[in-house]
Amino acid sequence: KSIGTGYASGKIILMGEHSVVYGEPAIAFPFSGTGIQATIRANKLESWIESSFFHGPLSEAPTTMRNVTVLLWYLVKHFKIPEPFYLKIESSIPAERGMGSSAAVAVAITRAVFDWMEEPATQEKVLHFVNQAEAVAHGNPSGIDATTISGTEPILYQKGIGFQPFQLNMDAFLVVADTGVKGQTRKAVKDIAKLMELRPYEISKQMRTLGKLTGQAQQAILQNRPQILGDCMNQAQSLLRLLGTSNRHLDHLIETALENQALGAKLTGGGRGGCMIALAENETRGRQLQRILLDAGARNTWIEGLGVYAHV
Ligand code: PMV
Repeated sequence: KSIGTGYASGKIILMGEHSVVYGEPAIAFPFSGTGIQATIRANKLESWIESSFFHGPLSEAPTTMRNVTVLLWYLVKHFKIPEPFYLKIESSIPAERGMGSSAAVAVAITRAVFDWMEEPATQEKVLHFVNQAEAVAHGNPSGIDATTISGTEPILYQKGIGFQPFQLNMDAFLVVADTGVKGQTRKAVKDIAKLMELRPYEISKQMRTLGKLTGQAQQAILQNRPQILGDCMNQAQSLLRLLGTSNRHLDHLIETALENQALGAKLTGGGRGGCMIALAENETRGRQLQRILLDAGARNTWIEGLGVYAHV
């Protein structure tokens, strides 16, 4: 095949970020509002990367693209890809905002290479490559980003155990808003690890509570009770704030959402910037919330129906 293409969407963690690193369950889903397209083909002179982030020879890619260069190294070795190649990455996922852009770029590239090599890209095979690259780029990832993004359905995820598909079928809408400020997942994860060393009893208890809230949220979703899901989101946000993962930009949008009839609101992903999510009882309220959050300073907003038939 002369050209390979691969696509991956972003992801949203509904409940369980950070506590998932400590073995607690989390709920996440692939987020169709944003995505990354990768295209790969042979090149004449040297291997080349074309992206909004960096364009130039692969050998000069910045260290911030380590997840991509490490992944390519694994893929080249495995498939004995003849270099040089030309790789184009087009993304509508804002980087470092808790939407899993680094896992998505890895999934899109892996799918593109599989397509180019004419091998079926099963989720298991894709994850094999993506997890190796994520481990190098992120230190100690729980694996939730790669697992969610390489699949097509919402999942309940537990580190070391795996995932199960999960029907996110609820009469409610989720509004996602980007603070416009870069999140700091790696730093936040590291700082929590330090807190865990200093105050193991207290922090493990908080992690277990976050895990319980995920369990309650799961029940609320199964029983189609948006108000209870909203309460779980609010309680999770209070704990995430205590753990130092929120910041004033997130707090401001979260408070604004709650003052404007959101059923619940919290950060999503690594935090300290990045995105927040708010639960709205119907689409009209969700769209109102989008406007209000934009007026309150959000860089961008999206809306997603949580019912199987409610996707917008
Ligand atoms: O910020 P993101 O999209 O990389 O999400 C990170 C989720 C965490 O639970 C904070 C970290 C992890 O590895 O699970």
